[in-house]
Amino acid sequence: MVSFKEERSALNESISFLHNKWGDIKPEVGLICGSGWGSLADIFPNAAKFDYIDIPGFSSTTVDGHVGTLLLCEINERQILIFQGRRHFYEGCGWGPVSFPIHLSHELGIKTMILTNAAGGINTSFQVGDLMVLEDHINFMGCNPLIGPNLNPKIPRFPDQSEIYDIDLRNRILEMSHAVQFPIKKGVYIALSGPSFETPAEIRAFQMLGADAVGMSTVPEAMICNALGMKVAGISCISNLAAGIASHKLSHEDVQNASNIALPKMKTLILMILESLLS
Ligand code: HPA
Repeated sequence: MVSFKEERSALNESISFLHNKWGDIKPEVGLICGSGWGSLADIFPNAAKFDYIDIPGFSSTTVDGHVGTLLLCEINERQILIFQGRRHFYEGCGWGPVSFPIHLSHELGIKTMILTNAAGGINTSFQVGDLMVLEDHINFMGCNPLIGPNLNPKIPRFPDQSEIYDIDLRNRILEMSHAVQFPIKKGVYIALSGPSFETPAEIRAFQMLGADAVGMSTVPEAMICNALGMKVAGISCISNLAAGIASHKLSHEDVQNASNIALPKMKTLILMILESLLS
Protein backbone atom coordinates (compact mmCIF):
# COMPACT_ATOMS: atom_id res chain seq x y z
CA MET A 1 0.00 0.00 0.00
CA VAL A 2 1.32 3.45 -0.93
CA SER A 3 1.75 6.00 1.88
CA PHE A 4 -0.05 9.33 2.01
CA LYS A 5 3.23 11.15 1.26
CA GLU A 6 3.95 8.96 -1.76
CA GLU A 7 0.42 9.43 -3.07
CA ARG A 8 0.66 13.22 -2.71
CA SER A 9 3.98 13.34 -4.55
CA ALA A 10 2.65 11.01 -7.29
CA LEU A 11 -0.22 13.44 -7.79
CA ASN A 12 2.15 16.42 -8.00
CA GLU A 13 4.31 14.54 -10.50
CA SER A 14 1.32 13.73 -12.73
CA ILE A 15 0.11 17.31 -12.68
CA SER A 16 3.57 18.71 -13.55
CA PHE A 17 3.95 16.16 -16.35
CA LEU A 18 0.57 17.05 -17.90
CA HIS A 19 1.28 20.78 -17.63
CA ASN A 20 4.69 20.28 -19.24
CA LYS A 21 3.25 18.25 -22.12
CA TRP A 22 -0.11 19.94 -22.63
CA GLY A 23 0.67 23.45 -21.45
CA ASP A 24 -1.75 25.56 -19.46
CA ILE A 25 -4.73 23.21 -19.83
CA LYS A 26 -8.09 24.16 -18.33
CA PRO A 27 -10.36 21.12 -18.52
CA GLU A 28 -13.87 21.81 -17.23
CA VAL A 29 -15.47 18.38 -17.41
CA GLY A 30 -14.10 14.93 -16.57
CA LEU A 31 -15.44 11.62 -17.80
CA ILE A 32 -14.52 8.26 -16.33
CA CYS A 33 -15.26 5.36 -18.68
CA GLY A 34 -16.37 2.23 -16.87
CA SER A 35 -16.61 -1.31 -18.25
CA GLY A 36 -17.86 -1.20 -21.81
CA TRP A 37 -17.73 2.62 -22.04
CA GLY A 38 -14.12 2.90 -23.24
CA SER A 39 -15.02 3.30 -26.92
CA LEU A 40 -16.61 6.65 -26.11
CA ALA A 41 -13.14 7.99 -26.75
CA ASP A 42 -13.79 7.31 -30.48
CA ILE A 43 -15.97 10.44 -30.43
CA PHE A 44 -12.69 12.38 -30.30
CA PRO A 45 -10.35 10.79 -32.88
CA ASN A 46 -7.94 13.74 -32.77
CA ALA A 47 -7.61 13.97 -28.99
CA ALA A 48 -4.21 14.37 -27.41
CA LYS A 49 -3.53 11.33 -25.25
CA PHE A 50 -1.18 9.46 -22.98
CA ASP A 51 -1.29 5.90 -21.77
CA TYR A 52 -1.63 5.95 -17.96
CA ILE A 53 1.60 3.97 -17.76
CA ASP A 54 3.51 6.84 -19.43
CA ILE A 55 2.27 9.48 -16.97
CA PRO A 56 4.57 9.64 -13.94
CA GLY A 57 2.65 8.95 -10.75
CA PHE A 58 -0.26 7.36 -12.58
CA SER A 59 -0.94 3.64 -12.25
CA SER A 60 -2.00 1.34 -15.06
CA THR A 61 -5.30 -0.53 -15.24
CA THR A 62 -5.49 -4.28 -14.62
CA VAL A 63 -8.96 -5.26 -15.82
CA ASP A 64 -9.91 -6.43 -19.31
CA GLY A 65 -11.72 -3.70 -21.25
CA HIS A 66 -10.16 -0.86 -19.20
CA VAL A 67 -7.66 0.47 -21.74
CA GLY A 68 -5.78 2.92 -19.51
CA THR A 69 -5.51 6.05 -21.62
CA LEU A 70 -6.02 9.69 -20.64
CA LEU A 71 -7.41 11.92 -23.39
CA LEU A 72 -7.60 15.69 -23.62
CA CYS A 73 -10.54 16.54 -25.87
CA GLU A 74 -12.30 19.70 -26.98
CA ILE A 75 -15.87 20.74 -27.64
CA ASN A 76 -16.56 24.36 -28.59
CA GLU A 77 -12.93 25.13 -27.73
CA ARG A 78 -13.53 23.99 -24.16
CA GLN A 79 -11.62 21.07 -22.68
CA ILE A 80 -12.65 17.67 -21.34
CA LEU A 81 -10.48 14.99 -19.74
CA ILE A 82 -11.50 11.43 -20.54
CA PHE A 83 -10.19 8.61 -18.36
CA GLN A 84 -10.48 5.60 -20.63
CA GLY A 85 -10.42 2.89 -17.99
CA ARG A 86 -10.69 2.96 -14.20
CA ARG A 87 -9.15 1.27 -11.19
CA HIS A 88 -11.31 -0.69 -8.73
CA PHE A 89 -11.09 -1.44 -5.02
CA TYR A 90 -11.16 -5.19 -5.76
CA GLU A 91 -7.84 -4.90 -7.60
CA GLY A 92 -6.38 -4.95 -4.11
CA CYS A 93 -4.31 -1.74 -4.12
CA GLY A 94 -6.48 0.20 -1.68
CA TRP A 95 -8.29 3.46 -2.45
CA GLY A 96 -5.28 5.33 -3.83
CA PRO A 97 -5.59 4.29 -7.49
CA VAL A 98 -9.40 4.72 -7.34
CA SER A 99 -9.29 8.23 -5.94
CA PHE A 100 -6.26 9.40 -7.96
CA PRO A 101 -8.13 10.46 -11.16
CA ILE A 102 -10.62 12.44 -9.07
CA HIS A 103 -7.93 14.36 -7.18
CA LEU A 104 -6.04 14.92 -10.43
CA SER A 105 -9.19 16.22 -12.13
CA HIS A 106 -10.00 18.50 -9.24
CA GLU A 107 -6.51 19.97 -9.11
CA LEU A 108 -6.59 20.56 -12.89
CA GLY A 109 -9.72 22.65 -12.35
CA ILE A 110 -12.50 20.24 -13.33
CA LYS A 111 -15.83 21.18 -11.77
CA THR A 112 -18.12 18.52 -13.27
CA MET A 113 -17.50 14.79 -13.35
CA ILE A 114 -19.40 12.19 -15.33
CA LEU A 115 -18.97 8.68 -13.95
CA THR A 116 -20.04 5.71 -16.05
CA ASN A 117 -20.25 2.00 -15.34
CA ALA A 118 -21.77 -1.32 -16.30
CA ALA A 119 -24.29 -2.61 -13.80
CA GLY A 120 -26.56 -5.53 -13.15
CA GLY A 121 -30.26 -4.68 -13.31
CA ILE A 122 -32.13 -5.32 -10.07
CA ASN A 123 -35.27 -3.36 -10.97
CA THR A 124 -37.32 -5.90 -12.91
CA SER A 125 -38.56 -3.24 -15.34
CA PHE A 126 -34.98 -2.77 -16.61
CA GLN A 127 -33.71 -4.47 -19.75
CA VAL A 128 -30.18 -5.26 -20.85
CA GLY A 129 -28.86 -2.24 -22.76
CA ASP A 130 -30.91 0.32 -20.78
CA LEU A 131 -29.09 3.42 -19.56
CA MET A 132 -29.82 4.49 -15.98
CA VAL A 133 -29.02 7.87 -14.44
CA LEU A 134 -28.04 7.56 -10.79
CA GLU A 135 -30.38 9.37 -8.41
CA ASP A 136 -28.50 8.16 -5.37
CA HIS A 137 -26.39 5.24 -4.21
CA ILE A 138 -25.90 2.78 -1.39
CA ASN A 139 -22.31 2.21 -0.35
CA PHE A 140 -22.22 -1.51 0.41
CA MET A 141 -18.50 -1.86 -0.31
CA GLY A 142 -17.76 -2.47 3.34
CA CYS A 143 -15.37 0.46 3.44
CA ASN A 144 -15.31 4.23 2.96
CA PRO A 145 -12.83 5.91 0.57
CA LEU A 146 -12.68 9.01 2.79
CA ILE A 147 -11.18 7.19 5.78
CA GLY A 148 -7.79 8.51 6.86
CA PRO A 149 -5.95 11.65 5.81
CA ASN A 150 -7.30 13.10 2.58
CA LEU A 151 -5.02 14.18 -0.27
CA ASN A 152 -6.90 17.46 -0.40
CA PRO A 153 -7.29 19.41 2.87
CA LYS A 154 -10.48 20.92 1.41
CA ILE A 155 -12.31 17.66 2.15
CA PRO A 156 -14.23 18.02 5.41
CA ARG A 157 -13.84 15.28 8.02
CA PHE A 158 -17.60 14.61 7.88
CA PRO A 159 -18.83 15.40 4.36
CA ASP A 160 -22.56 15.90 3.78
CA GLN A 161 -24.00 13.44 1.25
CA SER A 162 -27.60 14.67 0.92
CA GLU A 163 -27.25 15.23 -2.82
CA ILE A 164 -24.24 13.49 -4.31
CA TYR A 165 -25.64 13.40 -7.86
CA ASP A 166 -26.45 16.94 -8.97
CA ILE A 167 -30.22 17.32 -9.41
CA ASP A 168 -30.09 19.89 -12.24
CA LEU A 169 -27.57 17.85 -14.22
CA ARG A 170 -29.59 14.68 -13.64
CA ASN A 171 -32.81 16.31 -14.82
CA ARG A 172 -31.05 17.74 -17.86
CA ILE A 173 -29.87 14.25 -18.77
CA LEU A 174 -33.31 12.71 -18.22
CA GLU A 175 -34.87 15.39 -20.44
CA MET A 176 -32.48 14.39 -23.24
CA SER A 177 -34.48 11.20 -23.66
CA HIS A 178 -36.75 12.94 -26.24
CA ALA A 179 -33.85 14.20 -28.30
CA VAL A 180 -31.89 10.94 -28.28
CA GLN A 181 -35.10 8.95 -28.87
CA PHE A 182 -34.56 6.23 -26.32
CA PRO A 183 -35.75 5.92 -22.73
CA ILE A 184 -33.35 6.92 -19.97
CA LYS A 185 -34.09 5.21 -16.67
CA LYS A 186 -33.29 6.54 -13.22
CA GLY A 187 -32.53 4.69 -10.04
CA VAL A 188 -30.41 3.85 -7.03
CA TYR A 189 -27.06 2.11 -7.57
CA ILE A 190 -25.69 -0.20 -4.91
CA ALA A 191 -21.94 -0.75 -4.92
CA LEU A 192 -20.20 -3.83 -3.59
CA SER A 193 -16.48 -4.36 -3.46
CA GLY A 194 -16.61 -7.36 -5.82
CA PRO A 195 -14.85 -9.06 -7.53
CA SER A 196 -17.39 -11.89 -7.24
CA PHE A 197 -20.84 -11.26 -8.63
CA GLU A 198 -23.68 -11.40 -6.11
CA THR A 199 -25.76 -14.36 -5.02
CA PRO A 200 -29.51 -14.41 -5.82
CA ALA A 201 -30.26 -14.06 -2.08
CA GLU A 202 -28.11 -10.91 -1.92
CA ILE A 203 -29.93 -9.47 -4.92
CA ARG A 204 -33.32 -10.15 -3.26
CA ALA A 205 -32.03 -8.35 -0.16
CA PHE A 206 -30.81 -5.36 -2.23
CA GLN A 207 -34.23 -5.19 -3.90
CA MET A 208 -35.74 -4.73 -0.44
CA LEU A 209 -33.16 -2.04 0.34
CA GLY A 210 -34.38 -0.02 -2.63
CA ALA A 211 -31.55 -0.64 -5.11
CA ASP A 212 -32.27 -0.63 -8.85
CA ALA A 213 -28.84 -1.65 -10.14
CA VAL A 214 -25.68 -3.22 -8.72
CA GLY A 215 -22.01 -2.76 -9.52
CA MET A 216 -18.46 -2.60 -8.19
CA SER A 217 -17.43 0.98 -8.86
CA THR A 218 -18.54 4.65 -9.15
CA VAL A 219 -19.61 5.13 -5.53
CA PRO A 220 -16.10 5.88 -4.17
CA GLU A 221 -15.37 8.34 -6.98
CA ALA A 222 -18.77 10.01 -6.51
CA MET A 223 -18.17 10.32 -2.76
CA ILE A 224 -14.78 11.96 -3.29
CA CYS A 225 -16.11 14.34 -5.98
CA ASN A 226 -18.95 15.32 -3.66
CA ALA A 227 -16.58 15.89 -0.75
CA LEU A 228 -14.46 18.12 -3.01
CA GLY A 229 -17.54 20.15 -4.02
CA MET A 230 -17.64 18.90 -7.62
CA LYS A 231 -20.86 18.31 -9.57
CA VAL A 232 -21.40 14.63 -10.31
CA ALA A 233 -23.49 12.68 -12.79
CA GLY A 234 -23.54 8.88 -12.78
CA ILE A 235 -24.75 6.73 -15.66
CA SER A 236 -25.03 2.94 -15.67
CA CYS A 237 -25.40 0.73 -18.69
CA ILE A 238 -27.49 -2.24 -17.61
CA SER A 239 -25.21 -4.92 -18.98
CA ASN A 240 -27.03 -7.91 -17.49
CA LEU A 241 -29.93 -8.75 -15.25
CA ALA A 242 -28.62 -9.33 -11.73
CA ALA A 243 -28.00 -12.81 -10.31
CA GLY A 244 -31.20 -14.79 -9.84
CA ILE A 245 -33.12 -12.42 -12.13
CA ALA A 246 -30.99 -13.47 -15.11
CA SER A 247 -31.70 -16.99 -16.27
CA HIS A 248 -27.99 -17.70 -16.84
CA LYS A 249 -24.67 -17.41 -14.98
CA LEU A 250 -22.86 -14.06 -15.05
CA SER A 251 -19.49 -13.33 -16.65
CA HIS A 252 -17.35 -10.29 -17.38
CA GLU A 253 -17.43 -11.21 -21.10
CA ASP A 254 -21.25 -10.95 -21.12
CA VAL A 255 -20.98 -7.57 -19.41
CA GLN A 256 -18.60 -6.35 -22.14
CA ASN A 257 -20.69 -7.79 -25.00
CA ALA A 258 -23.90 -6.20 -23.75
CA SER A 259 -22.20 -2.84 -23.38
CA ASN A 260 -20.91 -3.10 -26.96
CA ILE A 261 -24.48 -3.46 -28.19
CA ALA A 262 -25.56 -0.37 -26.23
CA LEU A 263 -22.54 1.63 -27.41
CA PRO A 264 -24.34 3.78 -30.03
CA LYS A 265 -26.78 4.92 -27.31
CA MET A 266 -23.95 5.61 -24.87
CA LYS A 267 -22.07 7.70 -27.44
CA THR A 268 -25.15 9.70 -28.46
CA LEU A 269 -26.06 10.50 -24.87
CA ILE A 270 -22.54 11.37 -23.72
CA LEU A 271 -21.99 13.67 -26.69
CA MET A 272 -25.25 15.45 -25.96
CA ILE A 273 -24.36 15.85 -22.28
CA LEU A 274 -20.91 17.24 -23.11
CA GLU A 275 -22.36 19.64 -25.67
CA SER A 276 -24.94 20.86 -23.21
CA LEU A 277 -22.31 21.35 -20.47
CA LEU A 278 -19.88 23.13 -22.78
CA SER A 279 -22.18 25.14 -25.07
N1 HPA B 1 -23.03 -7.23 -10.39
C1 HPA B 1 -21.97 -6.46 -10.03
N2 HPA B 1 -21.30 -5.70 -10.89
C2 HPA B 1 -21.68 -5.72 -12.16
C3 HPA B 1 -22.77 -6.48 -12.61
C4 HPA B 1 -23.47 -7.28 -11.68
O1 HPA B 1 -24.45 -7.99 -12.00
N3 HPA B 1 -22.88 -6.25 -13.94
C5 HPA B 1 -21.92 -5.39 -14.27
N4 HPA B 1 -21.18 -5.05 -13.21
